[in-house]
Amino acid sequence: MNPDFLVIGAGVAGLRAAIELAEAGQVLVVAKDSLRESSSEYAQGGIAVALSDDDEVELHERDTLIAGDGLCDRAAVRTLVEEGPAAIQQLIDWGAEFDREGTKLAFTREGAHSRSRVLHAHGDSTGREIARTLYQKAASLPNVTFRSYAAATDLLLAEGVCGASFHDAKTMRDIAICARGVLLATGGLGSVFLNTTNPAVATGDGVAMAYRAGAEIGDIEFVQFHPTALHVEGAPRFLISEAMRGEGAYLRNADGDRFMERYHPLKELAPRDVVARAIVAETTRTGAGHVYLDLTHREAGFVRGRFPRIYETCLRYGVDFERQPVPVAPAAHYAMGGVRTDLDGRTTLPRLFAAGEVASTGVHGANRLASNSLLEGVVFGARAGRAMRESAAALRTAPMREPEGGSGGPAEQTQRVAWEKCGIVRDGKGLREACEWLARRAAPERSEERNMREVALLIARCALAREESRGAHFRTDYPAQRAEFAKHSVVKKDAEIVFR
Ligand code: SIN
Repeated sequence: MNPDFLVIGAGVAGLRAAIELAEAGQVLVVAKDSLRESSSEYAQGGIAVALSDDDEVELHERDTLIAGDGLCDRAAVRTLVEEGPAAIQQLIDWGAEFDREGTKLAFTREGAHSRSRVLHAHGDSTGREIARTLYQKAASLPNVTFRSYAAATDLLLAEGVCGASFHDAKTMRDIAICARGVLLATGGLGSVFLNTTNPAVATGDGVAMAYRAGAEIGDIEFVQFHPTALHVEGAPRFLISEAMRGEGAYLRNADGDRFMERYHPLKELAPRDVVARAIVAETTRTGAGHVYLDLTHREAGFVRGRFPRIYETCLRYGVDFERQPVPVAPAAHYAMGGVRTDLDGRTTLPRLFAAGEVASTGVHGANRLASNSLLEGVVFGARAGRAMRESAAALRTAPMREPEGGSGGPAEQTQRVAWEKCGIVRDGKGLREACEWLARRAAPERSEERNMREVALLIARCALAREESRGAHFRTDYPAQRAEFAKHSVVKKDAEIVFR
C-alpha cells in the first residue's frame, strides 16, 4: 500500500521529519542501504548549539555568518541558531545521551567557533547517538514504517512530484511508490570525489533526481573539504574529527614543523577551507602525500578515552594516536549547496520537500561552520516534516510519469575527474576540461554512476561560472572575492546558470 508521505533517506533529517509526519498519516522511510548507513552515522565531532554558560545565540549566529563568507541566508541562520537549543532539549527528552562533565553538558571547541559550543556523545560518535535516538522514537510510532536496501532511482511526476521509483536490492525488482508528499533526505555527495569522508552511499542521488525532475539546484559548487581524513595505504579516508584540534592537536608537515601558524592567526583552528588549502600547499611543497596530526603531547589515555572510535579505527590500520603523529590529508566532506528550499523544506517543485545535506537553504553560505550540520538536520528536518504535514490536506496521490533519464560513466573515472579538476584548488582550464569530459560520458547506466556524473557536472559548471574565490570555492585564476558574485548560483535543467 502506498504511504501518505514518502521519506527518502534514514539519516537525522529524514528521521526527524518522519516523527513530525507520523501525526498526519502513514509514513514510509526508505534507505538505500541498511537503515544505519548514512552520513549521520559517521558524524563525529558533534552538534553545535549556543547552550553553554558563556555563549549566546547571537555569537553562534555571527560565527556561522562569518564562516559562510558573505553568502549565508540570514533568516536561515537565525532559524538554525534560535531553534537549536529547543531541538537539543527535545533530543535529550527522547533519550539522547550527550557527554557531561559532572551533571553539566560538556562542550568542546572546533574551528572558527568563538566559544566552546560543540556537544558530543560517546566522545566521537555524536551522529550515531542522535540517529539512534531518532530511530527509536520514529520506530515507536505506529504510523512509521521502514524499508531498507531500496535505492531511489527517479522522482515520479504528476502535478509536481508524486512519488519515486526504486531499485530494491533484496528482490532485485524495480518498484514505484506514490505518496501525497515526498521528502528528499538523501544526504550528501562526497562519494562523487575520489577522496571523501562520506560513506559510499553518499552519491548525490537527491540532487541528481531533483535536477532531472526540474527542481532548482543552488550553490552546488561549494563543497567543503575536511582537512583531516586518515591517510594510510589501504585504509578508507576515515574522518579524524576537528574536535581533536579543539582538544589541542597540532598539524605538522613532513619536516615535523607546525605550519599552520604561517597561514592563519587561529592556527589549527582556522576555518576549514584555510586549513585544507594550507595542507595542499605543504604537501605540494614537501612532496609528501599527507601531513600529520599530533596529539602525543596529551597525557596517556587521553585519546583513547575522549576519541574511542577514532583511536580504535586508527589502531586497526596500524597507527597509534597515543604514541605517534597520524598521517592525514583533506577529503571531500560536505555539500553546502543542493536542492533549493525555503525555510520549511519546500523545493521549487510542488509536493517535493528536502531537508538536511541534500537541501540548500542557504544556511551554510559558502562554507559551513563545523558541527552545524547535525543541528541543521534536526531543525530543518522537523520544519520540513511540519510543513508537509500542514499541507497534507491539499495533497492527493496522482497518476505519475517518470522524468527522462540521463547517461552514465564508470564511477571511479568520475571520482578522479571531480577530485583532480573540481577539488580543493580549482581553475578555469581544469573546470572546462571536467565539463567536457563529464558531458561526453555515455552509457552504461547504473543509477548511482549516472547520478555521480550528473552531480559532478553540475559542480564543474557552477564552479566555472563562479569567477571568484569564496569560502570553500577557490580558483587560482580568480583568487579574490568579487562583489558581483555575492549571490547564490541557481541551475535548473534546460536553463542557463544564473546568480541571484
Ligand atoms: C568533525 O568532527 O570534524 C566533523 C564535524 C563537522 O563536519 O561538522
